[in-house]
Amino acid sequence: MRQFPNDFLWGVATSAFQIEGATSADGRGESIWDRFAATPGKISDGSDGKVACDHYHRWREDVALMRWLGVKSYRFSVAWPRVLPTGRGAVNAAGLDFYSRLVDGLLDAGIEPFVTLYHWDLPQALQDLGGWPSRDTASAFVEYADVMSRKLGDRVKRWITHNEPWCISVLGYGNGEHAPGHKNWGEVLATAHHTLLSHGQAVPVIRANVKNAEVGITLNLSPAEPASPSPEDAEACRRHDGSFNRWFLDPLYGRGYPKDVVEDYVKDGRLASSALPFVRDGDMAAIAVPTDFLGINYYSRAIMRSDRIPESQNAPRTVHPEPERTDMDWEVYAPALTRMLVHLHTDYQPGPLYITENGCAYATGPSEDGKVHDDKRVAYLRSHLEASLEAIRQGVPLAGYFAWSLMDNFEWAFGYQKRFGMVYVDYDSQRRIPKDSAHLYKALVEKNGLDVELAA
Ligand code: FCB
Repeated sequence: MRQFPNDFLWGVATSAFQIEGATSADGRGESIWDRFAATPGKISDGSDGKVACDHYHRWREDVALMRWLGVKSYRFSVAWPRVLPTGRGAVNAAGLDFYSRLVDGLLDAGIEPFVTLYHWDLPQALQDLGGWPSRDTASAFVEYADVMSRKLGDRVKRWITHNEPWCISVLGYGNGEHAPGHKNWGEVLATAHHTLLSHGQAVPVIRANVKNAEVGITLNLSPAEPASPSPEDAEACRRHDGSFNRWFLDPLYGRGYPKDVVEDYVKDGRLASSALPFVRDGDMAAIAVPTDFLGINYYSRAIMRSDRIPESQNAPRTVHPEPERTDMDWEVYAPALTRMLVHLHTDYQPGPLYITENGCAYATGPSEDGKVHDDKRVAYLRSHLEASLEAIRQGVPLAGYFAWSLMDNFEWAFGYQKRFGMVYVDYDSQRRIPKDSAHLYKALVEKNGLDVELAA
């Protein structure tokens, strides 16, 4: 029997900007994603988040869908500018009430809310004051965490401070692919530091407001594998693992920023010296605050090939992926998920782990029979749940799995062109159609195991 532990938390995940729409309803302030999407050329299909899945108005229907799916938990994020339109100060009661009603609706449906505080939609007013590169944004975040945990803390026990600090810093401030679209390496490490610091400072605040709170952070990790056994490819792997994974994991688990990566940055001019100008006394201890779990978003592995020597002088590749690739061009490779979970558990011992996102983009739409036969997502889901179960067998305290995503939604710089949902969204009518993957997930959740056949 391929069964999951009895208390395994089966869930689905979304984020506010990707589904809510209603970006100017009921006093919501502007976010950096509103501004970014309104800037020509930033979103590949020219779209924006004004309507998205209209979840702000259709949340009851969406909760009903989750109830049908049978999931035990729903991971969603709060739009900071809905609650604090200019980032700090006066609270917008209408915005706060939206989340309070959603939480009540979920609890009525027997679904546990799992709240992410920051999933990228910074109030534009805070960006105008400097955004994440400015230390003040960290204190504004802590105030916001206080507001939310006071309001929802009687009903919400599980909290994620930040979603993917790597994306916040590198995509937002380094390569400009995400809001606010800056291309300034100088801002990247300060942003990473301030998000981690604000996490560390928010954890005790949430704990003080919420009885029996469980608080953690979600990282997107990218397990690296060398394309060949050459020393150059091994070095490329070290650098990738260092800047992508260890830069965030090491400080969270009390090791400070990794010295080898600091040296890399000094050598390539990204840092003037190994003294990190944004770090103040006490910061590293604050960041290393003990947490109750670590959230992991996993989509694919990274195969590293050195660009320091010409391909012709490098060793022949031994990893030749001719794999299935999703519409994001991401390789489908589940074994790296097991390896990553086992590595995290043995090397960092973060305690319970949740897969807070895992999924794939495929454009499959309704067939003539009106159903959505997303076979590739069905296969992806099965293989990654097998990989999750294998990690549990190897002793990893994996406590839950959240499929990304409940429904198709606004995929950031790709707009509506990439469909990650288990539920199809017809954006013209806003009709929701559960895909085959949703039917499979429903059956898996019900069985709490993988020995499930999907009815044709
Ligand atoms: C993650 C994001 C999530 C979604 C998926 C595909 O990086 O957290 O919002 O866009 O990728």
